[in-house]
Parts: sequence; C-alpha cells; structure tokens
Amino acid sequence: MSDKLTLTELAAKKERGERIVMVTAYDYPTARLADEAGVDLVLVGDSAAMAVLGHESTVPATMDEMVMLTRAAARGARRPLLIADMPFGSFQVSDEDALRNAISFVKEGGADGVKLEGAGTSLARVRAIVAAGIPVMGHVGLTPQSATMLGGLRAQGRTATKALQLLDDARALEAAGCFAVVLEAVPAAVAARIAEAVSVPTIGIGSGADCDGQVLVLHDLIGLYQGRPARFVKRYADVGDTIKDALERFAADVRDGTFPEETHTYSIPDDELALFEAGLTPRR
Ligand code: KIV
Repeated sequence: MSDKLTLTELAAKKERGERIVMVTAYDYPTARLADEAGVDLVLVGDSAAMAVLGHESTVPATMDEMVMLTRAAARGARRPLLIADMPFGSFQVSDEDALRNAISFVKEGGADGVKLEGAGTSLARVRAIVAAGIPVMGHVGLTPQSATMLGGLRAQGRTATKALQLLDDARALEAAGCFAVVLEAVPAAVAARIAEAVSVPTIGIGSGADCDGQVLVLHDLIGLYQGRPARFVKRYADVGDTIKDALERFAADVRDGTFPEETHTYSIPDDELALFEAGLTPRR
C-alpha cells in the first residue's frame, strides 16, 4: 500500500494547526532527499526555468521540459504529494488546453496534482481540471508568469483595495476547488487574514509566519542559485560553494596527477597483460 500523503491528511494539518512544508525539486535525487527529510509537498516549480535551465525568468519553461522534470522528481518523491507547476502558455488559452496539459502532468509526469497561477480566467481552468479529478493548487500575490503586468517581481496587496482583491481571489480559488493556495510576496498581516478566511491550506513564500505552510525554492535554500536571492529567502546551506570547491580540488588533482590513485583503478592479471602487450601492433 502507498504511504503517499493524502489531500485529507493535508487538510487535517491545517485543522490541527500543524505547519505544512513544501519545497521545489526538479530531479530524482533532490526529490528523494526532500522525501527523506519528511517534506509534505514537492513542487516541480516553473522556477526550474531559472534554477536549472539558466533562463532569466520562469516564462520560457515549456510543457515538454516540465513534464520531463516532473517524471524525474516523481521517481524520488514517494511520500510527498508531487505538484507540477503549469508553465506559461499551458493554461492561458482555454479550459481544454489547460485540462490536456494537466492530464499530461499526471499521466506522463506522474504528478499527483498541478499548480497554476492567478485567479480571474484561471478560475475556469481550475474548475475544468478539478472536474476531471486532478487536484489543483492555486497561486496568488506575486505570480512570476505575469511579473511584467504586476510591475516586476515585487510584493503584492500593499493597498487596502489590492489586499481585498487578493482575499477575494483566494476565496474564489477555494470555491473553484483548489486544495491549497500559494500566497507569494503578500504582506504578512494580509496573508494571515487570508489564511483565516479560507478553509484550505495557504502555503506562503515571502508572506509571513501565519500561513498554514511555507515553500522555498530548493536552489535558493541550499545556496545553489547564483542570482541575487529575494528578501524572503533563508539560505540553509552553501552547496554551490561546496560543489565549486570539490570541482577545483578535482581539477587540481587531475592536473598534478594525484587522481586517480591505485584504489580508483582496475587491474588485469599479469599473464593476460603479457598476452595483450605481445599482441600490440606498433602505432602507424
Ligand atoms: O515555481 C515555483 O517555484 C513556485 C514557487 C515559488 C511557489 O511557483
């Protein structure tokens, strides 16, 4: 029997006031480590476009890329719910398009659910996907796919009108059937009210301590992303420095002949070696 976390257990965590832990992962080893660390939700975020594909924003991520990354992460994330992020262009055009792409994430990628950004037209997409039996996570506040419209990668909901709009959006996403909603870069006091106002878990990123859970981009939290981290990132490790140091030492060892050593090599029996050498023909 699968020990996969269920949506019921996730909802119960909010009921009990137990904080939910979500992290991004885009491959097998990091998804496996997230699983072993007891993370509840693994998000194959479209932040992959920046964190692992080297793009300047999340916008260029394609369905093909995201499905491939999801498939790899699915092999590692056994217990956590695996959520695939619908990339820009995969759900904006129509409900049919959104549903077809969500189905690809589940059938080909092995995802347990999908996440999509925004409210407005996204509400109909959520309803269509949920009606097909696929769990959907909403995402409001700073929605990086529409950063240009939002005036850049900046906090949202900092006026009363905009904060009320965010609250309405979160409620509408819950009503449309989302099992959870990400609140990104929302003032802590506003996020706290939204978390109270909706019955589904809110997962915050840069939205204060009163959300029902927290998410960070793995490469930010382990120090593997080279760009300037957002204000809300807490770095728990400097894996980038560790990797660079290892590579520099490897390069030095190769160049001065200290690697490989005897223990890193295979032997051939002396008689076989003698026959081999006897059979060598001079290089032309
Ligand atoms: O793409 C992503 O990693 C995300 C999280 C920041 C929530 O959407």
